[in-house]
Amino acid sequence: MTDTLRIGVVGVGYVGLTTAVCLADRDHDVVAVDIDEAKVARLSAGVPIIDEAGLPDLLTDTLAAGRLSFRTDYEALADRDVVFVCVSTPSGPDGAADLGALDAAVSRLGQVLPAGATVTVKSTVPVGTTRRVAERLRPHGIGAVSSPEFLREGRAIADFTHPDRVVVGADSDVDAAVVCAAYGADPATVLRMSPESAELAKYASNAFLAVKLSYTNSLAQLCHRYGADVGDVTACMGADARIGPSFLQPGPGWGGSCLPKDTAALVHSARIHGVSMAEVEAARITNAAQPGRILTALRQSIACPLSDARITVLGLTFKAATSDTRDSPALAVCTRLAAEGATLSGYDPQLAAIDAAVLQSAGVTAVDDPYLAAKAADAVLVLTEWPQFRDLDWTVIADHAPGAVVADTRNLLDPQIVGAAGLRYLGNGRADGF
Ligand code: UGA
Repeated sequence: MTDTLRIGVVGVGYVGLTTAVCLADRDHDVVAVDIDEAKVARLSAGVPIIDEAGLPDLLTDTLAAGRLSFRTDYEALADRDVVFVCVSTPSGPDGAADLGALDAAVSRLGQVLPAGATVTVKSTVPVGTTRRVAERLRPHGIGAVSSPEFLREGRAIADFTHPDRVVVGADSDVDAAVVCAAYGADPATVLRMSPESAELAKYASNAFLAVKLSYTNSLAQLCHRYGADVGDVTACMGADARIGPSFLQPGPGWGGSCLPKDTAALVHSARIHGVSMAEVEAARITNAAQPGRILTALRQSIACPLSDARITVLGLTFKAATSDTRDSPALAVCTRLAAEGATLSGYDPQLAAIDAAVLQSAGVTAVDDPYLAAKAADAVLVLTEWPQFRDLDWTVIADHAPGAVVADTRNLLDPQIVGAAGLRYLGNGRADGF
């Protein structure tokens, strides 16, 4: 097998675009197809469309080197050795993954790919999907592999190029080998398994992270009641190598485009097989309760009813280092506050990239300056862990909002600094917090 492969990517969302630029950067010849003409035009012009560290340079370099192109027509994939399918698989109303985009992509690939090609399903799909794809493609002499992606938004390039593990769910050694060659995977990181195991491993990993986070948020609530400090409790837990220190940071709940949808899909598919997945269901219930916990904390700490309150929200994205507001817990909190009649002014370092309609439907008036956003606030609510919030001049905020309560759902700020500015600080899972 030659080192340089002809690779196709279908779907240029976070996973597809990252896959395309990183594989082109590995000297492969990459053609990425998407049905969205506007996206294809912008990417072809070198506009990165998502906010990811390192992406703009990789995109420009690989386009200029002629190793990457974006197309809307599947015919451009007619000579590909391997195609990575990275289309979205959103949650339907019952939590089931909607496979419409994947099914459409597989039909087109069956028509255009040469015999001997390998289709790799990178989208997060219910267990059994890749085998079904394989059955559809077998008459065309095309193989199918499941290779889920584990990258995080905001660290997509680094996670893709230095993965903890590379999962290759394949029945055929030939298909597995071409996928490993495309990645240039370190054999020590490759976990070869069946397509079913690979598909379930992805859901299992995301659901485990969600369970860990909900457990942390419940512990934070209990810490406050006992007068304990969740930072001390999780420091102890995280020092145990069996638990590990990551994903133990309390917050306003977990969100984003993956954890909510994947936990819903896992619960749904397990139920069909008569398995309850009670841990994951409980994690979802705990998560849905977090906005209410924050509202209660505000009700108890500000002088006026929420219906009369002016609340400044710092952070609107679902986590720091992204402009993504999909399933953002910050916006879930805003929506609840707005429903209570509170007046919300919101600031986010990525405000310019956030759709105004999304903010409007969450009841947030966007203010492109954190100090102006804090004008006359009864409470300042930190909802996203943007490190720059730590460096705000809290004396200026205190001037704008004398006597305001600062509720820090991410435990990001220095309580001493906020307190010294004359503001009341409430940490998440702390004795004098909520
Ligand atoms: C998640 C997984 O972490 C990735 O491994 C996976 O590849 C990806 O989903 C996916 O399936 O595509 P991502 O959605 O980018 O990645 O976000 P995370 O970094 O996992 O954060 C999820 C949520 O948990 C965010 O709302 C974040 O603020 C919250 N979080 C995370 C906490 O509240 N506390 C923590 O300690 C960590």
